[in-house]
Amino acid sequence: MRKLIVGNLKMNLLTIAERDRYVESFKKEMKAAEFADSQIVLCPPAVHIENFVNKLKTETVSIGAQNIFWEERGSYTGEISAPMVKNMGAEYAIVGHSERRKYFSETNEIANAKIRVALKNGLVAIYCVGESKEQRSVGITADVIIQQVTEGLAGIPAAKMKSVVIAYEPIWAVGSDVVPSSNEILEVKILLKKIFTDAYGPAVAEKILILYGGSVKVATANQVCLEPGMDGALVGRESLIPSEFIKIAKIISGN
Ligand code: PGA
Repeated sequence: MRKLIVGNLKMNLLTIAERDRYVESFKKEMKAAEFADSQIVLCPPAVHIENFVNKLKTETVSIGAQNIFWEERGSYTGEISAPMVKNMGAEYAIVGHSERRKYFSETNEIANAKIRVALKNGLVAIYCVGESKEQRSVGITADVIIQQVTEGLAGIPAAKMKSVVIAYEPIWAVGSDVVPSSNEILEVKILLKKIFTDAYGPAVAEKILILYGGSVKVATANQVCLEPGMDGALVGRESLIPSEFIKIAKIISGN
């Protein structure tokens, strides 16, 4: 099955020189790599999307947005819409990232509106779900995930689910160096498969890609992605180092 390796560059690459160095280094590393059945997605800050599309987009490398707004146009100062990023050549949008939930009070309902507008505009939505440390410690991980998925995907018909990717990102593992065990990840993957099978039937559920995200590194990729049988990864910090990111992508795609 196709693997998806997504790099979330977050609020980095502050200068044109820094961005250009990243792009050059990524190109060089990619040249040496071979990916038979994998897709790599780079999600730079929105101001760099156009440049990344022009310089890095290939059959194997797609570009995505880290966030989009739920309306398509109008008086929403500072926001960036799905048609804008689509028309710049992006093909993916991350929705509901835990940092958006934490710093911008994004809810499952907001994520739902963003997923709808992403799909309407032909973008693949990468929907992030995951429990906090406190939620895990009181044993409500499954409840949290079920709620995030049912509310976040409410009203999205089965036929549209081919354009939705799920990223399971336990919040306690994002931006930290805490690495979940492969069993902890597998449990959530099984739960997600069950939710999707119940909601959409086995044929659709089987095709929904489920990624893992949170402190993915070369040293952990095997434990957090291969062992629990994930369909790929959402990589934060390590995606800022093209050589490391591409090594991770190679491990996950079995190259
Ligand atoms: P991290 O971030 O790899 O730096 O933990 C992952 C993410 O935020 O998606």
